[in-house]
Amino acid sequence: MHSIETTCPKVALSNGLEIPILGLGTSHNGGYSHDTVLYALRECGMRHIDTATRYGCEEQLGRAVRESGIPRRDLWLTTKLWPADYGFNSAKQACRRSCSLLGVEYLDLYLIHWPDANVPGRSNREVRAETWRALEELYDEGLCRSIGVSNFLMSHLRELKEDCGVVPHVNQVEYHPFQQPEELQTYCHQEGIVFEGYCPLAKGQALSHPVVLQMAQKYGRTPSQICIRWSLQNKVVTIPKSTKKERVMENCQVFGFELEGADMALLGSLHDGRHMSWDPTHVE
Ligand SMILES: NC(=O)c1ccc[n+]([C@@H]2O[C@H](COP(=O)([O-])OP(=O)(O)OC[C@H]3O[C@@H](n4cnc5c(N)ncnc54)[C@H](OP(=O)(O)O)[C@@H]3O)[C@@H](O)[C@H]2O)c1
Repeated sequence: MHSIETTCPKVALSNGLEIPILGLGTSHNGGYSHDTVLYALRECGMRHIDTATRYGCEEQLGRAVRESGIPRRDLWLTTKLWPADYGFNSAKQACRRSCSLLGVEYLDLYLIHWPDANVPGRSNREVRAETWRALEELYDEGLCRSIGVSNFLMSHLRELKEDCGVVPHVNQVEYHPFQQPEELQTYCHQEGIVFEGYCPLAKGQALSHPVVLQMAQKYGRTPSQICIRWSLQNKVVTIPKSTKKERVMENCQVFGFELEGADMALLGSLHDGRHMSWDPTHVE
C-alpha cells in the first residue's frame, strides 16, 4: 500500500491556495470513527478532511489531528457554518468556536453550509450577504485561508456576487453519477469557483449500479474506486466517507489508473437528478 500524501493532485483556488482533490468526509451519517480518521491521516497519507459544526465531531477531529503528529501546515481542514449561527457577529463567533474545538489557529476553508437562513422577517438573500461579509472579514484577518459556500445554486451565487466583494473560492454540492448539476458546474468554472462534490458514492447507492459493477470488473477495481475516479477525472474535488479503515484505504487507491473517455461518458449518462442528501432547489 502506498500513501497518497505525495501523489494526490491539488486544485488551485482563485486566491492561489491549492486544495487536495481527494479528502475524507466525516458527516454525522454513520457516525464518526476516531481510529479510522487517525488511520487515514497516518497510514493512507490523507491530508484533506471535510467536517462541519453540524456533524458534531470537530473536537474529536481536533484530537485525531493532534494525535497524528502531522504538522498543521501539511493539512487541509474544511469546516462549515450552520444556519443557527448565520448573521455577522454569530458567524464570527462560530468560526472562532470551530477553530477552538479543532484546536487550530486557522481553517483552510470555511463554508456557509446551506443557503436557507430561515430568519423570520428577513430575506435569505439579506442574511446570506450579512453572513458572507463576516466570512470576508475572517478571510481578511487570516482566520480562514479561503471561504466558500455549500449547496448554493446559481441564483444564490449571482445574488452574493451582486451583494458582496469576495467571490466564493469553493462551492461544495452533491455530485455523483446520478446527480450532475452541469449548468452549475459550468457557471462555477466561469466564475473561478472551485466545484467540490459530496456524496461521491451516492451514499453507497452507486456501488451496485450495473454500469459501475461492469466497469469495476473491466478495470480490476472496486465500484467505489470507479466512482471516485470518475469524479477526479472530471476535476471535481471529492470527499468520500467511510467509517472503516480498509474502505478508506481502498478509496485512496484511485491514482494508478484511468477511465477511458467512453467509460467516462457512460457514467456521465447515469444522471437522473436524484438527491441522496438535501435538495436546495426550492430555497429562495
Ligand atoms: N455540504 C453538505 O451539505 C454535505 C452533505 C452531505 C455530505 N457532505 C460531506 O461529504 C462526505 C461524503 O458524503 P457521504 O458520507 O454522505 O456519502 P458517500 O461518501 O457518498 O458514501 C458514504 C457511504 O458509503 C459507504 N462506503 C464508503 N466507502 C465504501 C467502499 N469503499 N465500499 C463500500 N461502501 C463504502 C459508507 O459506509 P461505511 O462507513 O460503512 O464504510 C457510507 O455508508 C460527508 O462525510 C461529508 O463530509 C457534505
